[in-house]
Amino acid sequence: MTDMDTIVVLDFGAQSSRLLARQIREAKVFSEILPGDTPPEKLKALAPRGIILSGGPGSIRARARACDDAGAPKCHPDVFHLGIPVLAIGYGMGLLVREFGGEVTGVSSREDGACTNTPACTRAQTCDPVHTLEILQIKKEKPLFSQLPAGVEVRMVGQGDRVKEAPPGFTVMAATANTPIAAVGNDERRLYGLQFHPEATPAPAGPAILQNFLFGPCNCRPSWTPGSFVDRAIAGIKQEVGKGRVLCAFSGGVDSAVAAVLAHRAIGPQLTCVFVDHGLLRKNEAAEVQRIFAEKFQLNLIMVDAAERFLNRLRGVVDPEEKRRAVGEEFIRVFEEEARKLGKIDFLLQGTLYPDVIESMMEDGQSAKVKSHHNVGGLPADLQFKLLEPLRLLFKDEVRAAGRELGIPEEVVWRQPFPGPGLAVRVIGEVTPERLALLREADSIVKQEIAAAGWSRKLWQSFAILTGEKSVGMTGGQRTYESVLVLRAVTSEDAMTADWARLPYELLDRISRRVITGVPGINRVVYDITAKPPGTIEWE
Ligand code: XMP
Repeated sequence: MTDMDTIVVLDFGAQSSRLLARQIREAKVFSEILPGDTPPEKLKALAPRGIILSGGPGSIRARARACDDAGAPKCHPDVFHLGIPVLAIGYGMGLLVREFGGEVTGVSSREDGACTNTPACTRAQTCDPVHTLEILQIKKEKPLFSQLPAGVEVRMVGQGDRVKEAPPGFTVMAATANTPIAAVGNDERRLYGLQFHPEATPAPAGPAILQNFLFGPCNCRPSWTPGSFVDRAIAGIKQEVGKGRVLCAFSGGVDSAVAAVLAHRAIGPQLTCVFVDHGLLRKNEAAEVQRIFAEKFQLNLIMVDAAERFLNRLRGVVDPEEKRRAVGEEFIRVFEEEARKLGKIDFLLQGTLYPDVIESMMEDGQSAKVKSHHNVGGLPADLQFKLLEPLRLLFKDEVRAAGRELGIPEEVVWRQPFPGPGLAVRVIGEVTPERLALLREADSIVKQEIAAAGWSRKLWQSFAILTGEKSVGMTGGQRTYESVLVLRAVTSEDAMTADWARLPYELLDRISRRVITGVPGINRVVYDITAKPPGTIEWE
């Protein structure tokens, strides 16, 4: 991506760097997260328009808190001497100030480095200190604080470093009541330091500060748009694949759909998609996939009806993990059989996204490929593919934007995540064709009502679960003894945590009535009000 204006975010705290990277991209500038200790020569070779040192739990002072020893990355002071504009936040500001001869000290309550999380501290999750809100008093508007509303509240970096004296040649640009030096800058060198988190400062001020840095000192052009990354991805695939052949395990989810349509635009018939219908899909799902992608987009799509095979394999299986294993193994086997029929394949197309790439990079320190390799670990060694991952630089919302740009229908672009083992983990107990049919009908009603009420996009997931329980009821004056259905609807950012959705009573009522009157075999609907944690999103 060297031909494009890029901002590198050096990571000293995962949460902060991701937020920064996303907000930069929202300003239509490409951003890339790299480990905090990335060597300056590598940064120079990438020629970014600017570098941001994300805030993090590290401290530059000798009396570091116990948890700082747990691996806070070391930043090379040379990053400040590359001639590239730098915005250094918190820990980075301390480094900047010290590098140019200023003075950094601690603040009272944290002066002794008391870390309340020790000894069980796992740095990334528990050590992020409390951030206080303070009002920013601007002393020098340009370049970072132009056109900011008065009385902006900023979220201060909570760790113990504070700048006591700005280095020679640096101006104090802002203060707060408790922090006399909240921002410093040297316009000639284009180096800036902030003692607060711009990415966590409420809009419009936070984004405005970042944009002032991007379009001021860094002189970026706002060129990272859905259209531009679609064009780049297509050109990239063409170049990487050449005359090779590409295979895609097509699920119909937004990631695989966008990856496949991009690849199709790039290399047309060199791409073959295989959709394995394991019989554990939702109502009409396979037919919809065929209608949209084979008919509308003209993808070379092989539909494999393997329902019977999966159901046979699942007979008598009740343990959730055993179900997962059975479906996973069978899937690999079916996919492998199809791949062999196709002859020599050079690439396997995968919808790996940027958060996975960052995660692998941070775990591994160097290689950004670790996790994606694991994803194909189940395929036999003689099926040797290279990986093709056209979405590996995109966040989920950018994948959706690309999908829209490519003309993929909204229902696919906004499709909720669906687990690989499908309805097998939503039929509690044994999976039989009858019980699957019951769940499919009920689930389809849930989907329709949630969509009609305008709730689909507000929810991470909404679905039905068929329990193994029966309850007594009355229908048309007749006693019934039928299955209990659970309705699950959750909000979430990333599925790591989730909350149960506060759906309107009227909507719950409509779903319950339609299911009980419309799906013979279900006579009771209950709503799951369990958050994650302690619950999980799926029941199995
Ligand atoms: P849990 O139930 O762990 O789910 O809170 C978190 C997210 O992961 C999805 N999920 C799966 N996805 N294979 C998948 O591909 C699985 O075995 C699986 N189990 C859960 C779930 O739907 C939710 O979005």
